Amino acid sequence: MHIPKKPLAKKQLIEQMRAMKVSDADWKHGRTWSLVYHQSEKHEALLREAYGLYIAENYLNPMAFRSLRRMEAELVSMTAGMLGGDGDTVGTTTSGGTESIILAAKTYRDRARARRPWIRKPEILAPRSAHVAFEKAAQLLGMRLVTAPLDDDFRVDLKAMRRRINRNTVVLVGSAPQFPQGVIDPIEALGQMALEKKLPLHVDSCIGGFLLPWWAKLGRHVPPFDLRVPGVTSISADLHKYGYASKGASVLLYRSMKTMRHQFFVSTDWPGGVYASAGLPGTRPGGAIAAAWAAVMAMGEQGYMDMAKKTAQATDQLMAGIRQIPGLCILGEPAMSLVAIAAAEPEIDIYVVADELERRGWHTDRQQRPANIHVTVTSNHLKVIETYLVDLKAAVLYARAHPEERHEGNAAMYGMMAKVPVRGLVGKSVRKYMETMYSAEGGIPELSKMGQGEDSDALSKLIDRFGPVAMQAMEKAEALGRRLRERLRKRLQP
Ligand SMILES: Cc1ncc(COP(=O)(O)O)c(C=O)c1O
Repeated sequence: MHIPKKPLAKKQLIEQMRAMKVSDADWKHGRTWSLVYHQSEKHEALLREAYGLYIAENYLNPMAFRSLRRMEAELVSMTAGMLGGDGDTVGTTTSGGTESIILAAKTYRDRARARRPWIRKPEILAPRSAHVAFEKAAQLLGMRLVTAPLDDDFRVDLKAMRRRINRNTVVLVGSAPQFPQGVIDPIEALGQMALEKKLPLHVDSCIGGFLLPWWAKLGRHVPPFDLRVPGVTSISADLHKYGYASKGASVLLYRSMKTMRHQFFVSTDWPGGVYASAGLPGTRPGGAIAAAWAAVMAMGEQGYMDMAKKTAQATDQLMAGIRQIPGLCILGEPAMSLVAIAAAEPEIDIYVVADELERRGWHTDRQQRPANIHVTVTSNHLKVIETYLVDLKAAVLYARAHPEERHEGNAAMYGMMAKVPVRGLVGKSVRKYMETMYSAEGGIPELSKMGQGEDSDALSKLIDRFGPVAMQAMEKAEALGRRLRERLRKRLQP
């Protein structure tokens, strides 16, 4: 591909782009259970216009674009008001949940460096279920991520968390809610632990921050999770999820500037000038901040309450429907609108169910440990819950009737990826997939075809050569591991 010699006409370009979009995930009609939060055509038009007003502005320099600085400050202040902040609460907007988490990790690393300079490898202590962005942060920042196992209800095991605190720990983490099963960690108890151990506590409420406050106002049970909880020193909440902003917007709040000051980057010697920034990027799109500000102002409390009500209704309907389908179960007790659907019987492979749902036109997210299908319910799904449940039921019947399919196609690939005990093998396989996707030829390789032919990698070879046998062996090993863990747990219990 070369840059076209002559400019293309707008009409032709837009037509081409519309045509390119045809095979993308269909989110507008509720067929996608993640990635996009769609409020209405009207809301989308507003976001487009607000973004467009600031399409050229660069928030690299807040002094040059004071209107953006004002919007950022107002976003921080409105979010703080919603999440139990007070007059001391400070914060920044960022490009999304991952940036908020990386910045929080950097802040606590540098805070610890200032107080305990002997720490060689600062540790983030988080529940096993904490978002993978903490692992990314640790990798990027030369830190170590230490994880604590979960209780049977998928909330972090507090005793295990406490046992893992050591002289290198620089921050504790809890999620409200965590993504995999949508449950809220015991934030009050974690806050207590943080105070006792004189450690900061970050609450990752990236996905729940803009829904839980309204959920509670609907009269639903929401345990304390925000800055009202003693011991919580920071919290992240994404505008581009249930805040219904356009992509590229999250808020990171701190209880006080005492902590936040460690987030700032300042360089005084660069020939390009003295340089300071609050976040990861240099150049920052003004549009994302402007659209986020417009989103919150346009939604207002009333809009958020209405959205929460519809989301709750859709989630209730979905969960009730799933509980009626023989062979399925829901993992844990979701605190809001994230639901993990698993097989309740060994004859059903949930990854075969997922493949069948995909064939029926549903963009489906698979999780592992344990295997399940993950859905993020939004108000936009209210209109499709019934159809989804019909297809889900049919997909379960299909999986029951075709147990052999667990050894084929995507189901086999996901099954293997979830079960192969040598994680390095899985990592290698996924890296190969990435290399193919980002190679000069480009394109999206089909997951089930990955590694076939010349390009064959270890994981695919395993599937090709030993398919069903390997899978059975791994399932046996897994069951044995589960039994052993159970016996150990019983023996170790006082
Ligand atoms: C709990 C939680 N934290 C962090 C993130 C990361 O957010 P982002 O994808 O905007 O980087 C997510 C995304 O779903 C999440 O659910």
